[in-house]
Amino acid sequence: MPYTFLTPKRTVFGQGAMLAAEKDLLALGRRPLIVTGNVVKKGEAYRQLIAILERNGVPNVVFSDIPGEPDDLMVDAGADAYKANGCDCIIGVGGGSPLDSAKAIAVRVALPGGVCTHAGKEIVAGLPPLALIPTTAGTGSEATKFTVITDHACGAKLLLKGDSLLPRLAVVDYTFTLSAPPSLTAATGMDALTHAVEAFTSRKATPLTDPYAMDAVRRIFENLPAAYQNGNDEVARESMAIAAFEAGVCISNASVTLVHGMSRPIGAKFHVSHGLSNAMLLAPCLTFAARGAPERFAKLARAVGLAGVGDSNTHAAAALLDKLKAITNTLNIPTLAAYGISQEAFLAAVPQMAREALQSGSPANTLCEVTEADVINLYQSLY
Ligand SMILES: [Fe+2]
Repeated sequence: MPYTFLTPKRTVFGQGAMLAAEKDLLALGRRPLIVTGNVVKKGEAYRQLIAILERNGVPNVVFSDIPGEPDDLMVDAGADAYKANGCDCIIGVGGGSPLDSAKAIAVRVALPGGVCTHAGKEIVAGLPPLALIPTTAGTGSEATKFTVITDHACGAKLLLKGDSLLPRLAVVDYTFTLSAPPSLTAATGMDALTHAVEAFTSRKATPLTDPYAMDAVRRIFENLPAAYQNGNDEVARESMAIAAFEAGVCISNASVTLVHGMSRPIGAKFHVSHGLSNAMLLAPCLTFAARGAPERFAKLARAVGLAGVGDSNTHAAAALLDKLKAITNTLNIPTLAAYGISQEAFLAAVPQMAREALQSGSPANTLCEVTEADVINLYQSLY
C-alpha cells in the first residue's frame, strides 16, 4: 500500500536559526501578518523577528489577541486584520496557540465561510505563504498539517487538516524555549511524547515515521525531566526541540489515536490545557491500547532501551507503560481532582465526551477495537 510522507517545505534548525532564515522569511512576502501572543511579544524570538523585518524595511502587522487556545472568533479577528492591512503572508511565532491560529487565519482568508465549516474536510486550497516559529517544545505544529480550533458556539475542539497547512518555512531555535516555566515545559513535553507514542502505535504508522517516533521517545525520556528541573539546561532543551519537531512529523503522517481523541473533549469542556489532558490520559489509554498490539509497544520499548531482545513482548510493553507512568509522576502532572475538576461534573460529561472522542476519528487509528463503552470506562477510570 503506497503512502506519502510530508514535512515543511524548508526547516531551519538550531541556535541562531532566525538569522539563518532571514532570506527565507523575507521571501514569504512584502507585508506579513505576525500572529503571536502577548507573553511571546516580550521574548527573544519576537524581538529577533521584528529586528529582521525592520532592518529590511518590511512593514508588519501584529495580531496578538489570542488569550488562550484559539477559537473561531479569534481566527475571524486575525483574518480581518490580515485583509484590512493588505497583508500577503503570515508568520506565526509562539507556542501551540499562536501557531495553530496562524494556520487557521490562513485558511480563513483563503476560503469562503468560517473556519469551523472546513473541519473534517481535506483543505487543498492554496493558502498565503506561512512561516511558523515555535517557542515551546511540544505541539510540533510547525511540522504538522493540522490545526485545532474551538467552535465558540458549541465549545467543541475541531480539527482542520490538509497538506496546505504545512508551512513553507519552519524556524526552530531551542534557545527560544529556555524561558518556558516548568509547568509549561512539562505539559508541552508530554504532548510531544504523546504524539510520538501514538504515531508509532497508530494503524497509519509507516516505515518512514517509525524512526522519527523512536528517536523522539528516546530523546523525551532522556531530556524532558532535565528540562523540567532546569530550564537553562541547553542540551536538554535542544534535544526536546528536536523531539517535538520529530513527533510533529510523526503525527502529520501517521496521525494520533485514542489519547488525543479523548483529550480534546476534556480540554474543550473543562479548559484543561492540551498537554495536561494528554498526560492525564496517556498511561491509562495506552495500557488499554497495548492489549491489541503488544508487539508494537514492545518494539518501541526495545528501541529506547527499556527492554532487550530476550524480553517477551508482554514484558517489554509493560516496561514502556511503566516508564510512561513514571515520567508523568516525575513531572508532577496533576490528576483531574487535583486540577480542581469536580467528580460529579466530570462524570456527568462522560457520555457526551465519549461520543465526541469517537466522532473525531482518532480512536479508530488505535491498534485495537475501541467501543463507546471502552471510552466511557477509560474516562471514568481517571477518577
Ligand atoms: Fe497534541
